[in-house]
Amino acid sequence: MKAKILALLRERGGYVSGQEMCDMFQVSRTAVWKAINQLKKEGYRIDAVSNKGYFLHPEEEVFGSHELESRIDTAWAGRPVHFFETIDSTNLRAKLEAEAGAKQGTLIVADEQTAGRGRRGRDWESPAGKNVYFTLLLRPEMDPGRASMLTLVMALAVAEGIQKTCRLDPQIKWPNDIVLEGKKICGMLTEMSLERDYIHYVVVGVGINVGLQCFPEPISATAACLQEFTGKPVNRATLIAEIMKSFEPLYDRFLQTYDMREIRQLYEDKLVNRNRQVRVLDPKGEYTGTARGINDRGELLVELPDGRTETVYAGEVSVRGLYGYT
Ligand code: BTN
Repeated sequence: MKAKILALLRERGGYVSGQEMCDMFQVSRTAVWKAINQLKKEGYRIDAVSNKGYFLHPEEEVFGSHELESRIDTAWAGRPVHFFETIDSTNLRAKLEAEAGAKQGTLIVADEQTAGRGRRGRDWESPAGKNVYFTLLLRPEMDPGRASMLTLVMALAVAEGIQKTCRLDPQIKWPNDIVLEGKKICGMLTEMSLERDYIHYVVVGVGINVGLQCFPEPISATAACLQEFTGKPVNRATLIAEIMKSFEPLYDRFLQTYDMREIRQLYEDKLVNRNRQVRVLDPKGEYTGTARGINDRGELLVELPDGRTETVYAGEVSVRGLYGYT
């Protein structure tokens, strides 16, 4: 009920009477009063004026489960949402939930991670009070070889979510980094569990740099945060809710063909590498070429100097710009 009260107060933007809430949620006045008091304890500024009702001051961010629940407006993505003030890693937690039978769409969100993990075994710095760390649980019925494309779907959803929340125009560095003016603001880590030849579950973990912060060397040269571009604080719950809202229809379109065919154009429109010189760091040997886009399986198409086109699979290969990170 607390999430519903928040959503109602926010939607009205003015006073809402206690009686109206009682009628709407079919509870007693005491129950409403108790819920309001608990919300106040969580940090919300709510005025109570006799004969007028309750008023929510909208300015401050309170990042927590009620805030998230009150903003997530989807059919399944982000439902339920489990929030943790601090956790080792949202990916690890999502895997535990998945093993215990949690349903597709379950979302794990944390304010802080003590063992945040990045790709290639790297750590992901995850301080409290600043950033977004979440993991979405999926249970697609498809061949495991296609799972890496889910990260591309999420990349598109994150880019759209940032666009809607922050009025910025982020781009995607293949396969799934989100960049603004050539600097990385978001990374993703997708992991899966297989059962024979089938996917048991996939967890897609997303870390977005949101609030102002000092990045440690050597990433300070290539990393940035959203607030550097918005010039004002970004509400993290709103951002997560918008990403979930974007993810749902993109995932549905992905499931029509189990590949990127339906959303390839949308992805390529945001691809920062497109028509740029790239260096492909293939363990079998580095080479350079011009990135032209992706194919239906989400692989990067790189045109070589001799005119041939190489198909780059995300796996172990990474791609750099010839003159910098992008
Ligand atoms: C990268 O190296 O670019 C990927 C970083 C992924 C970080 C996110 S934060 C939420 C989720 N939990 C983790 O431990 N990692 C991912």
